[in-house]
Formats: sequence, structure tokens, C-alpha cells
Amino acid sequence: LHVELDGDVERFTAKVGVDDETQGRGSIRFLIYAGGEKRFDSGVMKGTQNAKPVDVELRGVRKLVLLVASGGDGIDFDHANWADAVFQIAGEAPRAVGAPVEEKVVLTPPPGPEPSINGPKVYGCRPGHPFIYRIPATGDRPMTFAAENLASSLELDAATGIISGEAPRERGEYAVTFSARNDRGRAERPFRIVVGDTLALTPPMGWNSWYIHYQRVTDQHMRAAADAMVASGMADFGYAYVNIDDCWMVKPVSADPMHGGEPRDADGAVRPNKKFPDMGALADYIHTHGLKAGLYISPGPLTCAGYVGSYEHEETDARKFAEWGFDFLKYDWCSYGRIAKDRSREELMKPYRQMGDILKRLDRDIILNLCQYGMGNVWEWGGEVGGHCWRTTGDLGLEGGQLSLGIFKVGLFNATLHEHARPGRWNDPDYILIGHVGDARTGGVGRPTTLTPNEQYTHMSMWCLMAAPLIFSGDMERLDDFTLNILCNAEVIEVDQDPLGRQARIIRRTEEELVLAKPMEDGSLAVGLFNLSEVEREVGVAWKDLDVEGPRIVRDLWRQKDLGRFAETYSSRIARHGVVLLRLRE
Ligand code: GLA
Repeated sequence: LHVELDGDVERFTAKVGVDDETQGRGSIRFLIYAGGEKRFDSGVMKGTQNAKPVDVELRGVRKLVLLVASGGDGIDFDHANWADAVFQIAGEAPRAVGAPVEEKVVLTPPPGPEPSINGPKVYGCRPGHPFIYRIPATGDRPMTFAAENLASSLELDAATGIISGEAPRERGEYAVTFSARNDRGRAERPFRIVVGDTLALTPPMGWNSWYIHYQRVTDQHMRAAADAMVASGMADFGYAYVNIDDCWMVKPVSADPMHGGEPRDADGAVRPNKKFPDMGALADYIHTHGLKAGLYISPGPLTCAGYVGSYEHEETDARKFAEWGFDFLKYDWCSYGRIAKDRSREELMKPYRQMGDILKRLDRDIILNLCQYGMGNVWEWGGEVGGHCWRTTGDLGLEGGQLSLGIFKVGLFNATLHEHARPGRWNDPDYILIGHVGDARTGGVGRPTTLTPNEQYTHMSMWCLMAAPLIFSGDMERLDDFTLNILCNAEVIEVDQDPLGRQARIIRRTEEELVLAKPMEDGSLAVGLFNLSEVEREVGVAWKDLDVEGPRIVRDLWRQKDLGRFAETYSSRIARHGVVLLRLRE
């Protein structure tokens, strides 16, 4: 509750607690902010506790916030009471006002008309396998691309920048120089193709259908997403994977004829439902854009949404995925829980090791995304079983609520796992949920995200610092300028895609602040200063806490602007739930 005062209010008194009606259940935190400062914090209160007295002096204060927050375990039974609440006033009566609405300020400078080449600087592939890569570049079209030193098995389409063909058969590093030219200028950029065993040398970037289409997903949605990835410019920043999530297969118990049909073909391979008339044609369509195709299935008999899984058909299905031309597989535990003998590490690893081994034998590069919500510390063994990225938590879209904002809960946990990330092995805190997204609890249709503008900057900044897969899962057909500004800032994405492949380390973490620092290949440091609190505050960092000595040039990555040279600290006023994303150079 936001309250405006005239400065002559003397005090606010009340008794706060969880209502007896909950019979001991519920857990709540009461907080009071006066003029931007926290003046009362009840701590987490349970239904069994007596009320706590509140007495806050308010002379001179004009803005008051009375905040009720979840105790961190959801909002069930969180029946909160401010009993006997009284303002002692000398002048005007306090006025309840709406929460201030944050303006959507676009910080990312629009890309210029001259060519600029974006995306990863290094790319892994396996010898002799099909190869497809679209050189991401902004700038006016028509543009002419060239790739100096490109292996003879690869071919570049000079007009689109799409490289296709077959990866060289000989292992090793191939140094290529990309260039792009239009009538406004020319850009050049080195690119390393590493032919070997490791894929995903930088975190995968793309889009996934789940949070917008749920069980409604169709072949048409996927094609439209591929079109939009190019038309919106996302592909010019490195977004490449167009991934179908759950619900493309047959749902055995469904009454909906579109979801029904024969679950498997004559060879025993999984079949799509009627909304996906031709999976091979769909993958081809995505590839003609220079993009990559992904899909989803479960190692269990059924997926999480009750569609056919790969249990006892793993090899046949994987071969079918490769034959169709898919490049990415999300393998979701779901009903495998009924198959696993227990929750021992060996049992948790089993289905993933099996699929990892199968994929390694195929003549196609397929990224394996483990989705089992972090069980058995998957980050410790996900790479060993052939995974390239692994979800570290439950579904981001199912988290939520004040002070337990999903991106904080999921992001702050994922941030603790920094030691486990490296090229080809990434912690995956789930998708970028902004723009038009549908409610995961109801599988609802898309609505504008409930994240504030600052929270959206925070979401993207955290994910990039954490070298997370950057997979957007909102509506590709309703991308607005603000959403694209969050998704498509080349300098921000560069933090995520840095070839060193380190995940940011936690420099400081309090209830109010988070500071993350990610070492970059060129010796610079990407630093995120996050304000986790409910009001604007100053957040800073000292070079000594970053193990940095001597002055540094500080660049604001969202604004793409140098802020100056700073001797030993930097600090900034940061909005509620906001961030400043910096890069420190000598
Ligand atoms: C699980 C996964 C989600 C999504 C759904 C599909 O909940 O964690 O990411 O794939 O299944 O049913």
C-alpha cells in the first residue's frame, strides 16, 4: 500500500501478524519503507506467533510504503493483518495512492545503418556433420557477406550470410574472418570454428514455444517464430534455435482429434500429432532461414503434459529426430520418476547418459538440454552424461509473488552454481520470460509480462552474467520495441557469449543487494550491480572486492556508454529491482 503524507504526520502505529483464522499456517513478512528507507521489518511471521507492535516516526516523510510479502513459501494462507493501525496527524490525512508505474525506458541504442557483426566468436561442431550458421549482423540491407579462410566443405551465401555444408572432417581449430559490407560501410570479425567433440562452446540462444503456446503449439506457430526471428532482427544478434517444447506428439488420452492418432510409426519411432503434418519439412523451413530447429521429449513413457515419451524407444526416436533434421533436444524427466528405481545419482543419470550416448553416435550435431529441475545436483554430472546445459531449478514461470520474484528465486540460486559452467556445459535457469507470455499455471494465452521494466533489465543482465542459455519464450509475433531492447543489446549479449565461458561469481549478496562479476576473455570484467530491495538505493562495488587493482574505465553496457575512469570504486543509484550492468577495462 503506497501512502502519500504531507510531512506533518507524526507516527504510524499498528500490530501486525498472521490471522488466527489460518490456524497456524501461513508465513508473512511486514515491511515499512518511509521516504525510501526501510523503517520496519517484522521478519518472517508464522500463524502461531503473537502480533508484533509497529511504531514508526514519520515527521518530514512524504512517501510511505506498507508492504506485505510472502515468507518465501508461496502465498497460501498468507492472511495478513495490520491491526489497530493509526496515523497520528497534525495536518492533512494520509492518502493511499497507486504504486508508481515505471516508465518503459529503452536504453539500448538502436543499431546503426553500417554493418556490425554480432554473435559468438567461437563455434563448436563435430567432424563431417551437417553445418548451418547464419552470420548475425545488423545494418542496412542489402548486405554482402564474405568469410575468409572458410573450409572448402562449407559454403557461404553472400547475400544472406548463411553458411551451410559439412563441417571439416579433420579435427582442429579453423580461424575464419567474417566480413559484411553495405553502402554505409564494412565490418570485419574473427570467428573460430572448433571441430571436435564439444558443442555449445557458447550458451545456446533462441526461442522456445512453451510459455506462449503450451499445448496449443502448431507447425504454423513454429514457422511464424522462425520468420519473426529474422524479421524482428533477433537473428542479427545471434538468436538461432527455434524450439518446440512439449505437446507436438500424440496425447494418448486426449479427446481432441488434433492431439490424437497413432503414437508411433511402423518402425516404432514417435509420431507427431495432427498439428505437425511434417516434422522434416518444418525443420527444413527453419534451416532455410539459417536457423536451427529444436524439440522436446521425455525419457519416461509420457511427457509432463501427458504426451508420448521416448521410454524404450530412445534410439529409434533420436534417429528420427536427426533424420528430420533437428539440432536441439530438451529431455524432460517428467514420468521417468515412475521408471527410476530410486533417486540415487546413478538412477538420475541413467536416462540422460543413455540419450547422451545415442546422440554422440548420430551423424548430426544435437544439443542435449537436461530438464530435471536440478535433482541430484545435476550441475555436477550433467556434462559427464553428454548434456550441454541443464535446468537447475523448477519452472521459472511457476515461481512468483512479491519479494519472491521468480527471477530472483531462480536466478539467485543459479548464481551459486558458477563453478560448474564452462564451454559446452551451462547452467540453465529457464527461459527469458518477457514480452507477451502466458501464465504457466493455467497454460493461459499471452499477456504483457508482469515484470516491471527494471525487473526485465535485471532478468536479462543476470542471465547474461550467468552465461545462461538465452532462450526467449514469449510471443514472437508480438514483439514490441521495449522487449526487443531487452533481448537485443549486442554488448549485453556479448557478456553471455564470451568465449572464455565463465559464469559470474557472487561478489556480494545481501537481502538488498547482489553484485556479480564475470571475467571476460579479453581481461575485462562484466559486473552487475543489482538492487533486490523494494525502494531505490545506492549500490556500489570496490575494486578490491573484484580483485582488481588500479583505475578502470567503466562502461554502462545497456546504454553502451563509457562512464569515465574510476580509481577504486563505482556506485550508482539503482531503482527498485533494477540493475546497472558494467564492463571494467584497464
Ligand atoms: C516441465 C518443464 C517445462 C516444460 C513443461 C512441458 O514443466 O520444466 O519447461 O517443458 O514441462 O510440459
